[in-house]
Amino acid sequence: MSGRIAVLAPHVADQIAAGEVVERPASVVKELVENALDAGARTVRVELEDGGRALIRVSDDGSGMSPADAKLALQRHATSKITTAADLIGVGSFGFRGEALPAIASVSRFELETADGTGAGVRIAVSGGTVEREEPAVRQRGTTVTVRGLFFNTPARRKFLRAPAAETRATGEVMSLFALARPDVAFALTSDGRTLLDTAPAPRPIDRIHALWGRELADTLLPVAHRRGALEVTGFAQRPSQARPAGRKGFVFVRGRPVRDPFMLRAAEAGYRSAIAPGDRPTLILFLDLPGDAVDVNVHPAKAEVRFRERMQMEQVVEEAVRAALAPLEAAAPLGAAAGGSGGPLLEAAAWDGTGAIPAGLPTELFSPEAMSGRARGPELLQVFDTYLLFQTEEGVAIVDQHSAHERVLYEAVMHQLAGDGAPAQRLLLPLTLEFTGPELEAIDAHRELLQRVGYELEPFSGRTVVAHTAPNPHPRFEAARCLQELVSDLAGGRFGGWANRLERFAATFACRAAIKAGHHLDPDEARELVRRLLAATLPAHDVHGRPTIVQLPKGELERRFGR
Ligand SMILES: Nc1ncnc2c1ncn2[C@@H]1O[C@H](COP(=O)(O)OP(=O)(O)OP(=O)(O)O)[C@@H](O)[C@H]1O
Ligand SMILES: [Mg+2]
Repeated sequence: MSGRIAVLAPHVADQIAAGEVVERPASVVKELVENALDAGARTVRVELEDGGRALIRVSDDGSGMSPADAKLALQRHATSKITTAADLIGVGSFGFRGEALPAIASVSRFELETADGTGAGVRIAVSGGTVEREEPAVRQRGTTVTVRGLFFNTPARRKFLRAPAAETRATGEVMSLFALARPDVAFALTSDGRTLLDTAPAPRPIDRIHALWGRELADTLLPVAHRRGALEVTGFAQRPSQARPAGRKGFVFVRGRPVRDPFMLRAAEAGYRSAIAPGDRPTLILFLDLPGDAVDVNVHPAKAEVRFRERMQMEQVVEEAVRAALAPLEAAAPLGAAAGGSGGPLLEAAAWDGTGAIPAGLPTELFSPEAMSGRARGPELLQVFDTYLLFQTEEGVAIVDQHSAHERVLYEAVMHQLAGDGAPAQRLLLPLTLEFTGPELEAIDAHRELLQRVGYELEPFSGRTVVAHTAPNPHPRFEAARCLQELVSDLAGGRFGGWANRLERFAATFACRAAIKAGHHLDPDEARELVRRLLAATLPAHDVHGRPTIVQLPKGELERRFGR
């Protein structure tokens, strides 16, 4: 009886390997663009016909290959990028396996044309893995790979291709990723002769975002630039007030490599804690930089994932980075953008310029107690509609929503109190006697300790009645009974239900209910004190619902409108 085990013929092995690397036109484009970038291309052009079913062509002006190298490149495990397994540690090139070209060539009618600028170029045609033709080619330095009839010899796979529009879209997404990763390289994508993308090299990543998605999105983004030790995070995080539940973009790059990492995005979202409405998903574009030996890039067939040696630490730094991006007052919403106007002068000033430096925030000393006593009382404040506080800053006119602002201030104060000794409560001369529903009584029981810490000392009286002996006193117009009723009703009704952390949820609910309301007149000292405390908060520009506390009318916008 003959043996049942046989070594697969090379072209069969290639086809099988291709199954992991080449899934659809977009993955062919990904591999070929990676090769072009690895070859130092300054310009990468991609053409599709019929969504890539009929034709995929990627041309670059990189180093090119000699005819001998070109032939080798089509063999499996042939690579110029590493020589020993140790070279994998910290590998800086996109490719390292020497598999992509032979895999693609084994499932298509493939043509490689390349010249390295020193001698004659070469054109090699391969069909289903078999070399069919090889001839000299005259061309400039660089490489062009043409892939026709993808999966022509693996009909089962060809059947899985989607409609041309869907395949084109997937390729467009791949191109966007590379365009973001490499703003210094020009990229073009055409589909059946129509130009879908054509971007010149851009000095700053934000310019690429303009080019890809327009100003509208770019203007909603805040620059991220944060470093802890050897871990660095740069990029962009969307202003909380502009995040929506659907349609966000979430991109993570690790050492310049686009990766799929939902957990890292989750960590970034944690940085928004207390500043975003539950369920809203901010757009995030994050570039993670860390030492090469702290990450393993060889863990996924299409290199779409990486493994971090210390994932927890990296996630923490990402969370910190987003948090830090939300903190400065520049994170406040500019009026221009909200009005759909020229928008974003604030962002322009603050946009990450690639140096890693974040522009300084507005001077919070304006409202320091020292500045307010004595001669310098800080800038004049004006309350309008008994709801908004206006004042002048270095960059324009700031408008504060008094309720949102106070909510943010109280939230941060309560988080401190809950962690420490609690708030100073006021003993009531006449205890409050209040009625609650069954679920509300349960909520009171579940939160008794927290309620006490914010100042409500409660005692069951009889039946559904509860007596409060003490109450908090966050501002002179505070209505202790109404606040308690609303607070308990929120706690029982699961308001802020999207908040994972119980303490934070409680603090947000309390802050929301206890804060000064719109429609209350503030005397000038109260108004100044509120603004002073807001500017001293860690996230002054955002309230606990994901709305802005401050909007700014930039001086430049006034000048523009008045034609100065
Ligand atoms: N556009 C190109 N310009 C110059 N050289 C190229 C180009 N494309 C491929 N090569 C050469 O061919 C080799 C094989 O490419 P291939 O994509 O198959 O493998 P790789 O990039 O080394 O690794 P991986 O399989 O991980 O992509 C590369 O190592 C490189 O030397
Ligand atoms: Mg490659």
